[in-house]
Amino acid sequence: MLILALESSCDETAAAVVRDGREILSNVVASQIDTHARFGGVVPEIASRQHLEAFSWVIDEALEKAGTTLEAIEGVAVTRGPGLIGALLVGLSTAKALAFARNLPLAGVHHIEGHILAIQLEKPVAYPYLALAVSGGHTHLYRVDGIGAYTTLGRTLDDAAGEAFDKVAKLLGLGYPGGARIDKLAAIGNPKAIAFPRPLLHRDNVDFSFSGLKTAVLNHVRALPDLPQGDDLADLCASFQAAVVETLCRKTLRAAKAEKLERIVVAGGVACNRGLRTSMTAMAAKEKLQVSFPSPALCGDNAAMLAVAADARLRAGENEPLDLNAVASWPLDRVSAVSPVVVGG
Ligand code: KG4
Ligand code: ZN
Repeated sequence: MLILALESSCDETAAAVVRDGREILSNVVASQIDTHARFGGVVPEIASRQHLEAFSWVIDEALEKAGTTLEAIEGVAVTRGPGLIGALLVGLSTAKALAFARNLPLAGVHHIEGHILAIQLEKPVAYPYLALAVSGGHTHLYRVDGIGAYTTLGRTLDDAAGEAFDKVAKLLGLGYPGGARIDKLAAIGNPKAIAFPRPLLHRDNVDFSFSGLKTAVLNHVRALPDLPQGDDLADLCASFQAAVVETLCRKTLRAAKAEKLERIVVAGGVACNRGLRTSMTAMAAKEKLQVSFPSPALCGDNAAMLAVAADARLRAGENEPLDLNAVASWPLDRVSAVSPVVVGG
């Protein structure tokens, strides 16, 4: 089955063509980052307008790169939520129009479901596994028993990890979004230079909290005469990143042990972080666990990631009605299971 997938939950307009929920034929992402950077964050109204302008050429490019045409597409997938409601509605309306015009079945996919299944497009991981979803809006640990069978084990009680990276980058004058910039500076800094707190590590649970850590960085910076530069800036970035990474690794390990899961998948934009990839890989090797990260292009927002769940749902005969609505807030546990739930390797 040839699926055309569309994603527009935040500030990336994306379209992809995927065969049989496994083979990526094209994966086009048009980022709006430059537009939002000058505002220090995503402006929802501007995001919606830009999605509207970009979708038509992004879809054309995805079809062209895949060497196919709309006539050959057999199903449409779209991010239904969670995300910015206006932005989601642009993608959803586009997908519904295509499905209606071509008489194609439609699958509405949960954005985080896309992230935690993206790995199946590259290096398939057998179910069940533990998924750490780390993005600008999520820091969640899920048990994944199959497509549509997710249990939330832990979550952030305040800021998401990506949000913490972005807020710290902003207060350091590194611009928006700052995760990748902190990652780059952290690589040349000393992670032990400043002892930032490891939030909630002492508690016997698998929840996260990053807002106190962000405040600790703010207080540290306020006590300095000027914003740190050069080596001091690199040391600060490395110390902050080390606190985030240690918390993510230790809680992930705790959850894997509690659930007796031997496989871990790290997904979402923050899964690009080199410090996280290195530490998680070392921890997994020490504990004899398997850890998998999608390649960077499949970690950040993209449309190909939606095709894994969409393919399974469309094959099971699911077809969303054309009055399907977008949902800004949507716990992953409420995603309906594909019938029958797709389990096994
Ligand atoms: O998954 P994603 O592209 O969009 C959301 O669904 O939120 O994640 C975006 C987040 C941003 O907060 C961004 O700063 C962060 O991922 N990010 C990183 C890195 N690359 C992107 N954070 C840390 N290190 C990176 N290398
Ligand atoms: Zn995302």
